[in-house]
Order: sequence, then structure tokens, then C-alpha cells
Amino acid sequence: MNKRNSIAIRAKIFHFINQHEYEYYSDGLLVVINGVVEELGSFSDLRNRWQGVLPFLEKKDQLLMPGFVDGHIHAVQNGVMASYGAQLIDWLNKFTFPYEKQFAQKDFCKKDIGLFFQEMLNNGTTTAAIYSSVHQNSIEAIMEEAINKNMRIIAGKTNMDRNAPEELLENSDNLMVQSENLIEKYHKSHRISYALTPRFAITSSKMQLEQLAKLKSKYPYIHVQTHISENHEEIAQVSQLFPERDNYVDVYDHYKLLGKSTLLGHAIHFSEKEWARTKESGASIVHCPSSNLFLGSGLFNMQKCISEQIPLALGSDVGGGPSFSMLKTAAAAYQIAALRGDSKPTAFNLFYLLTLGGAQALGLENKIGNFAKGKEADFVLIDTKKPSALKQRISDDLPLEELLFALLFLGDEQSISATYLMGISME
Ligand code: GUN
Ligand code: ZN
Repeated sequence: MNKRNSIAIRAKIFHFINQHEYEYYSDGLLVVINGVVEELGSFSDLRNRWQGVLPFLEKKDQLLMPGFVDGHIHAVQNGVMASYGAQLIDWLNKFTFPYEKQFAQKDFCKKDIGLFFQEMLNNGTTTAAIYSSVHQNSIEAIMEEAINKNMRIIAGKTNMDRNAPEELLENSDNLMVQSENLIEKYHKSHRISYALTPRFAITSSKMQLEQLAKLKSKYPYIHVQTHISENHEEIAQVSQLFPERDNYVDVYDHYKLLGKSTLLGHAIHFSEKEWARTKESGASIVHCPSSNLFLGSGLFNMQKCISEQIPLALGSDVGGGPSFSMLKTAAAAYQIAALRGDSKPTAFNLFYLLTLGGAQALGLENKIGNFAKGKEADFVLIDTKKPSALKQRISDDLPLEELLFALLFLGDEQSISATYLMGISME
């Protein structure tokens, strides 16, 4: 047994067994051996078996749950968050593309991407699907940081070869070899899964999409992640650039990029046909509510997505999204449902999406998402006395669901007292 990542933690422990069932131990013990879950139960049942065998950590007053899954985030947009006054296309041209140019430099990548990982961990995010810039330096910095921290991620080099500043366009001669090298080097290395990452249909030529289709057929087990149907101006440009295609979904479908391991970011303005084809394809949708509110992109129909049983995750979409906090992201999903006049997701619905549901949508449910025996022990400890507004709102006898709901709206980075990756605290 490895002492460093073997531990028993006493806390209030909460996790989902499936979409409709959770377990809650008001005085629980989570037993982790060699970084994976060995056992979960009540403290009184398990203490005798493990006392003296493993180091015990007493966190009786804190809430322990699986780490949060962020299904859509950009590692190269820290400095773009909270930029004033633009919708998607102008926001990309005015703020985002200029910022991403800096990732050509290795030193900048190391520093900014190091801060990016730290922000995620400070906010309790233990798994993310990550976009780089077009630069080799940026994807390498992401992969090396994930290896360094032993964090489970999905990531890939963003591809763009048109409709962006010259410095951000790739030379298509290199794309196949460069991508194959990245896949061979990083896919399944440590806790990494590779994702082909065409930014969106506007910035990939037909030739580039054909190359990506070839890569996907050669490596069918890798992910694809991209943006889709986020903004009306974007959708109009896509239909001009691909007049021969039926709709936005059909663009990715035609180039064989739509399937079970595809993560579609946003999907706000889908037609019935696009919903139907997305469902049939087995692709997942990543709802990015805080970004959609910030950029004024629109109100995603989460109720339909869930009732159609399309796999769904939530994404912070930093830097379109103004916060790394998945608590705030889930709170924004509630607000969007409220604005739509739909039935509102419960705290349980939302925490499911942040943990096991998100893991499922990312195809990682065998590795993470809850405390089933053998899963990787990625979890967060939450101090519900922070910040003070949360402390004031809760009381010892508050039902779990109300506590969780208050945590979504009043909790923040201060509430996350520790984040663990495979049983090790990332202080
Ligand atoms: N569509 C294409 N690129 C981006 C991006 O960086 N952020 C968001 N929110 N949408 C995009
Ligand atoms: Zn995005």
C-alpha cells in the first residue's frame, strides 16, 4: 500500500449511485487505497476495520463529494474573462483571438496554463474537457500540467485554418502528422484522453474537416469536442460557408465528427431535426449557462435535452463564462430554466450533472463521478460555513436538498476547503 495516497476521511459524504439515487452519510467514512475508492459507509460501521490501518482525517463538519466535472473550458482564456460589451463573434475578434496569440510563446503557456489548472482546483473541478489554442506549445503545456498534477482530463489541440488572424491559422500540411503525434504521445497516458478539437465550423475549412474525419476513423476511440449553435450570427455564417449542408449539426455529421464520443458545446438554437440527429448519433451536449448569459447567446433548452435522454454535462466555458466555479455554473443553469419558464432543475439534478452525470456525458463514468469501489478518488471537501452568506443561510437541521441548493447560489471558491486527486490533496 502506498502511504501517500491511502487515507480514510470522516465527513458528511454525498454521492450519486445513478441519476435518481444518491447516498448520504451524515457521519461517513471514505476509504481510499492507492488513490482509488476502497469503501464508503457510515463511520460507526467502518471505523474498527480501518483504524490503525490507514491514516484518518477528521472532517466531521465538512461535506465531502466527488470532484466537479467541467465539460467545456478553455485553458487559454484566463485573461479574457469579464471583457465588456460584445456578443460571440465580436468577442472572439476583439478579445479572445488577440489573447490567444500569446500562447505561441512557451513561457507564457507555462505560466498562464499553470494558473488555469490552479483556478480549476481551487474551485473543486477535478475533471475537465479542455481547449488549447492552435499552438503546439499550449497543448503540450496542458498535457504536462495534467500529468504533473495527475488530473483526469480530456484535451486536444484546437484546430483553425480560416476566418481568424493569420497568427492563429495552421498550415494544413502539418495537421495529420502533428495530431497523430499528439494522440500517440498523450492518449491514455496517465489520466489523459485526447480530443480532436475543431474550434467551430467557421474556423475550419472543408479540407481541414476532411483531415479530421480521417483522424477520427483511424482513432475511433478518441473524443471530438467543438462549439455548435451558440449564437445567431455564428449560425448564419455557418450556413453561408456550408450552403450544401442541411444545418449546423449536419456539418459535423458529414465530416464524421458526430458520434458517441463527441462533446457539443452550447447547442442553444437547435431545430427539431438537429435535436433528433444529435440524439440518434449518441453525442453529448455540454450546456454552458454562465457563458450563455454573459455573452447573451441564448437560453438552452435543458429540459428537452434531459427528457430526450441526450447525455448532458455542464461547462464553465471560461473565458466566455465569467467564473471557474462549477457551483456558479450550475446556479446559472437554474436561472436559465427560470427565464425560459421551464420546470426548474433541483439541487440534486444539478449536482448529478456536476458529478456522475457529467462523467457519463464525457464517457468517463467507469473512472470517476462517484465513490463506487475501484473508482479514482477525486473529491472535494466543502466548508459550508464559507462564505459568510452561506453560513448565515444554513443551520444544522437544514435538509440536504436545501443545503445543496444554498451552496450552489451562495457557495464559491472559499467554500472549497480542499480538492483531492486520487486521494492526494492539491494544496
Ligand atoms: N465559438 C468558437 N470559439 C469559441 C470560444 O472560444 N468560446 C465560445 N464561448 N464560443 C466559441
Ligand atoms: Zn467554448
